[in-house]
Amino acid sequence: MSTHNVWTHKGTFLLAAVGSAVGLGNLWRFPYLAGENGGGAFILIYALTIFAVGIPILIAEIMLGRNSRRSPIMGMRFLTRTHKTSRGWESIGWLGAASAFIILSFYSVIAGWAIHYTGKMLTGSLEGADAETIAAGFDALLASPPLLTLYHTLFIGASALIVGLGIHRGIENGLRILMPALFVILMVVLVYAAAIGDLQGAADFLFTFHLADLSLEGWLEAMGQSFFTLSLGMGAIMAYGAYMSGEASLTRTAFTIAVVDTAVAMIAGLAIFALVFGAGLDPAEGPGLMFITLPLAFAEMPGGALLGGVFFVLVLGAAISSSISLIEPVAAFLVERFDLTRPQAVSAMVVASWALGLLTVFSFNLMAEGTVFHSLFGRSAFGLLELLTNIFMPLGGLLIALFAGWALTHGEVMKEMRTNETWFSVWRFLVRFVAPAAVAFVFLRTIPQVEGYWIPTIGAVVIVGAFAAGRTFLAERQES
Ligand code: PHE
Repeated sequence: MSTHNVWTHKGTFLLAAVGSAVGLGNLWRFPYLAGENGGGAFILIYALTIFAVGIPILIAEIMLGRNSRRSPIMGMRFLTRTHKTSRGWESIGWLGAASAFIILSFYSVIAGWAIHYTGKMLTGSLEGADAETIAAGFDALLASPPLLTLYHTLFIGASALIVGLGIHRGIENGLRILMPALFVILMVVLVYAAAIGDLQGAADFLFTFHLADLSLEGWLEAMGQSFFTLSLGMGAIMAYGAYMSGEASLTRTAFTIAVVDTAVAMIAGLAIFALVFGAGLDPAEGPGLMFITLPLAFAEMPGGALLGGVFFVLVLGAAISSSISLIEPVAAFLVERFDLTRPQAVSAMVVASWALGLLTVFSFNLMAEGTVFHSLFGRSAFGLLELLTNIFMPLGGLLIALFAGWALTHGEVMKEMRTNETWFSVWRFLVRFVAPAAVAFVFLRTIPQVEGYWIPTIGAVVIVGAFAAGRTFLAERQES
C-alpha cells in the first residue's frame, strides 16, 4: 500500500521542511558552536557547506521522496525496483529511520529542558538571580531523573499527538499556526535584544572572519552542523517530499529552505550574543549557552522574565516542528508496511524512542561521569547516541548524493528537476563529486571519536550490513 496523499497546498511542503530544519540546531546548537569556535570563521565554513553540499543533497532527498511517493524505507525499495538499481541502496531508508529514531530520543530530552526554563522565566523565579544560582539550578535539573523524564514525556507526547492526527489535520494545521507565530517571536526577541543588548558586538563577533582562528575540529564541526540543521540524510525531508505537489520547483524550494534556515540561525545568533555581550558574559560557554548564560542575561535585564519566557516558547515551538518530522518517516513506514492505523504507528515509534530517551536522561545523573557505565564506555550513553548519529547522518547524506548522482539516469532526474542543462550539470557535479568529498572530510572528525570503540562500531556495521544483505537476498529469492 502506498501513500498517495499530497499536502493540501502547494506551499505546505516548504512550510513543513522549514519547520523541520529550524529547531534546536538553529537556536541552541548553532550559537554555542559558533561561540566556542570563534564566530566568523566558523560561520563562513558553515554557510559554504550549506550552499555547496547541503542544497544539492536537499534537492536529491526531496526528489527521492516525491518520485517514490512513499515513506523512505518503502520509497527506496520502490525506487531501486523501478529504476533497476542495486538493492543495496535500500540501506538509505533503513539508515534514515534508525537515525530519526535515535535523534528523536535525545532531541526530546533536550527540548524538555526548554519546558523547564519556560516555567522558570514566566513565573519570574530567576529574576535577579546571580551566576552561581543559575548554574546550580541547571545542575539540579540535570541531576533529577524524575524531572527530566517528566519533561521528556511531555515533549514527545505533544509531538506524537500532532503526528497522530495525520498529515492534514495534525501536521499541516499545526504548522500553519506555529510557524508564523515563531517568526513573530523571533523578531520580537531580536528587536528587544538590539534595543538593550550589544548588537554591534554580536555582529562583530559573528561576521568578522579570521580563518586562522578555526581549528580543524571547528571546521569539521561546522560541516557536521550544516547537515544537522538542514535535517539531511535521515528521511525526514524525504518523508515530507512524498506529499509534495508535483508542480512545485525542486531547486527553488530547496534554496528557500536553506536560506530561511540560515537566516534564522544568524538572527538567533545575533540576538543571543547581543544579550550575552550586553550583560558582559562569555560567548564560549558551550551547550550551557542557552540554559545558563542566556537565563543569566534575562535575569539581569529589565523585562527579562517576560522576554525569556517568550524566548523559550520559541525554542519549544521550533523544536516541536522538528520532532514531528522525525516521527513521520518511521510512522508512515509502519502504516504502509504493517497496515497499522496512524495512531498505532505513531505510538509504537514514540514509545520505543521515549524508552531509548531514558538513556539520555540517565546520562546526566545515574550514568554520569564516574559511574560504572561511563567508565565502561568512556562516555555517557547520550555521547554514544550522538556519536552514532554523527556517523549515520553524513553516511545517509552521502548515499543519497551517490544514488541521485550516479544511479539515477539523466532523463529520470530531469523529469523531476525540470531545470535547464546548466543548473542540472552544476547540481550533478556537486552531488557526484563535491558532496561525497565533503562528507568523507566530515568523517575525519568521527574517526578519532570512534577510537576505543572499534569493536562496537564494527559490530554495529556488521549487524546492519548483514540485516540489509539478508533482506536483499530474501527479497530477490521471492522475486525469482
Ligand atoms: N534540523 C533540526 C534542527 O536544526 C534537527 C533535525 C535533524 C530534525 C534531522 C529532523 C531531522 O534542530
